[in-house]
Amino acid sequence: MNTPNIPDYVKGWLTDTEAQFLYSQAKACPPDTVIVEIGSWKGKSSICLSQGSAAGGNVHIYAIDPHQDDSYQEFEHNVSSAGVRELVTPIVKTSADACEGWTQPIGLLFIDGNHEHDMVEQDFLLWSRFVVEGGIIAFHDSTSSPFNQLMGYLGPKRVVDKYLFQSKDFKHIGFTGTTTYATKSSSQTVTDTLARWSMRLKKAFPDTLMLLHQYVLLKLPTGVLDGIRRLMGYRKLNLGR
Ligand SMILES: C[S@@+](CC[C@H](N)C(=O)[O-])C[C@H]1O[C@@H](n2cnc3c(N)ncnc32)[C@H](O)[C@@H]1O
Repeated sequence: MNTPNIPDYVKGWLTDTEAQFLYSQAKACPPDTVIVEIGSWKGKSSICLSQGSAAGGNVHIYAIDPHQDDSYQEFEHNVSSAGVRELVTPIVKTSADACEGWTQPIGLLFIDGNHEHDMVEQDFLLWSRFVVEGGIIAFHDSTSSPFNQLMGYLGPKRVVDKYLFQSKDFKHIGFTGTTTYATKSSSQTVTDTLARWSMRLKKAFPDTLMLLHQYVLLKLPTGVLDGIRRLMGYRKLNLGR
C-alpha cells in the first residue's frame, strides 16, 4: 500500500495531498524515533500517520489531544477500524501536559492543535527540541489560504514565519495544501539559506496579493475595479443574472 486508506466516514480537514504527505513521511521516519501528533480530533491524521508507519518501519505514534469536545470515542473507533490501532498511543492531555517528563527522540512532529498564536508557539517551543537532526516538523493551517484567512487561523502561519523561515535550524522548507514542513538541521550551506529565503519569497507573494486584494482593491469604486480587472484580462462570466 502506498497511499492512505481512510474510511469515508472519518471527518477531518486534511486534503488528499496532505494525507499523502503524512503517510509518506511516516513511512520514511527513522526506526529509532517516534512520531508525535498534536491535535488528533477524530483520527484522520493519526490514520494517515499510522498506515504510513505500518508500510515503513512501524515507528510508534503518540496522538495528543485533550478531546474536550468528546471526540475520543470516535477517535478510538476510527483508528481501530482503519486497522492500525496497535501503532498508536493516544495521550488524552493538552500538549503542554503531555510534554512533562517527555524524553523520546521524535522523527516526525505534526502540529495541528490549538491554532491561537501563543499556543502554536508553545507547541513548537516545547516539542521541537525533541525532533532529531534530519527529522521533520509540519504545521497544518500555516499558509494564508482563503480558508485560513476566513477562519482567522493566523497563529500557525506567524509561528512558521518566525521559527522556520527565519531560523538556521531548519532547511528544505516546503508546502502541501495548507501545511508547511521543514527538516531540522544544524548544518546549513549557503544554498540551503538561499533556498529558505526563496521559499519565503514564494510564500510572501500570495500573502501580499491577498492583502492587496483585501485592503486595497476591494475598497475601490466598482468602475475602477472593473477597469483594472479588464486590463488584467478578466472577463465577466455570464451567469444568467
Ligand atoms: C483541527 S483539530 C485536529 C484535526 C486532526 N489533526 C485531523 O487531521 O483530523 C484540532 C484538535 O486540537 C485539539 N487541541 C486543542 N488544544 C490542544 C492542546 N493544547 N493540545 C493538544 N491538542 C489540542 C482539539 O481538541 C482538536 O481536536
